[in-house]
Amino acid sequence: MIKVEGLTRKYGSFVAVDDVSFTCQPGRVTGFLGPNGAGKSTTMRVMVGLTPPTKGEVTIGGLRYHDIPNPGRHVGVLLDASAQHGGRTGREVLTLGAMTMGLPESRVDEMLDLVSLTKAEAKRRIRNYSLGMKQRLGIAHALLGDPQVLILDEPANGLDPAGIRWMRGLLKNYADRGGTVLLSSHLLHEVEQIADEMILIGNGRIVARGDRETLLAGAGPAQTLVTSLDNAALAAALQAAGLPVEQAGRGLRVQAAAADVGRAALSAQVVLTDLRDGGAGLEDLFLQLTADTQREAPSSLQAPTPEGTVA
Ligand SMILES: Nc1ncnc2c1ncn2[C@@H]1O[C@H](COP(=O)(O)OP(=O)(O)OP(=O)(O)O)[C@@H](O)[C@H]1O
Ligand SMILES: [Mg+2]
Repeated sequence: MIKVEGLTRKYGSFVAVDDVSFTCQPGRVTGFLGPNGAGKSTTMRVMVGLTPPTKGEVTIGGLRYHDIPNPGRHVGVLLDASAQHGGRTGREVLTLGAMTMGLPESRVDEMLDLVSLTKAEAKRRIRNYSLGMKQRLGIAHALLGDPQVLILDEPANGLDPAGIRWMRGLLKNYADRGGTVLLSSHLLHEVEQIADEMILIGNGRIVARGDRETLLAGAGPAQTLVTSLDNAALAAALQAAGLPVEQAGRGLRVQAAAADVGRAALSAQVVLTDLRDGGAGLEDLFLQLTADTQREAPSSLQAPTPEGTVA
């Protein structure tokens, strides 16, 4: 439904988006994930005709955004929730949108209900809205024309935990009914929970794509962290079984799946006190793949290990 083909966007000699191609399918939520400055917003701006591409093109349902008649009825867009006239009320913004799209006024109240903005809040000027309220209004505006495609840039920004859960349900539901959703984020956990498909971008280039399982399969061989009442005996048993093992904090790091480590422990009759997956998770993969775009060195990004657990 959304088709990005060979998209490049340069600013002077700086390449913000570098030969990016992907598609977003109906009935699926596609997560567009990358660190700050990776090129997510630029790609989305090109999608909706706000920034011209240097090369390549984006079509939605076979048409470029500019060529879609009454685009709000087909594509719901939320790029920057703060980019609304601060002097207008929430209700005014939605009413203007409804008029432009030729929708009945009743649609405004439906949308306000949907995003849980009260009648009193809808009467307030947007300059006095909280970040989360602006975000809710932006989502209401995107959904106003009952579009088949949603393009949302960091939609969870500013929402409280209940709001994030609400939005997750809303977008899943929307995709289940056949809608196409593209949403961006720099937060892996946020996207991981909603997206059926993920596209990882770093330095303007796509560095990985696929569903959670496909991405994890590329994250490297299995590793297990294990602690026991007799680590020396366990290490000997693991080595005897041909499993590479090294000291890690109070326990051992083993280059093998948990079941193999458990089997070795069983044969050596060692009591385990902790056994867990120590493999590179999606977060490690994300940080690795986008390492040269991170502002922090990857090693400094590792969370401190709580006292008493294996490192
Ligand atoms: N109008 C512009 N002129 C010059 N450079 C720009 C312009 N717009 C974007 N850029 C640059 O393009 C790069 C990508 O920016 P973009 O806003 O697409 O990143 P992003 O992935 O959305 O990041 P974030 O997670 O911080 O929102 C950045 O280095 C940015 O400075
Ligand atoms: Mg952005």
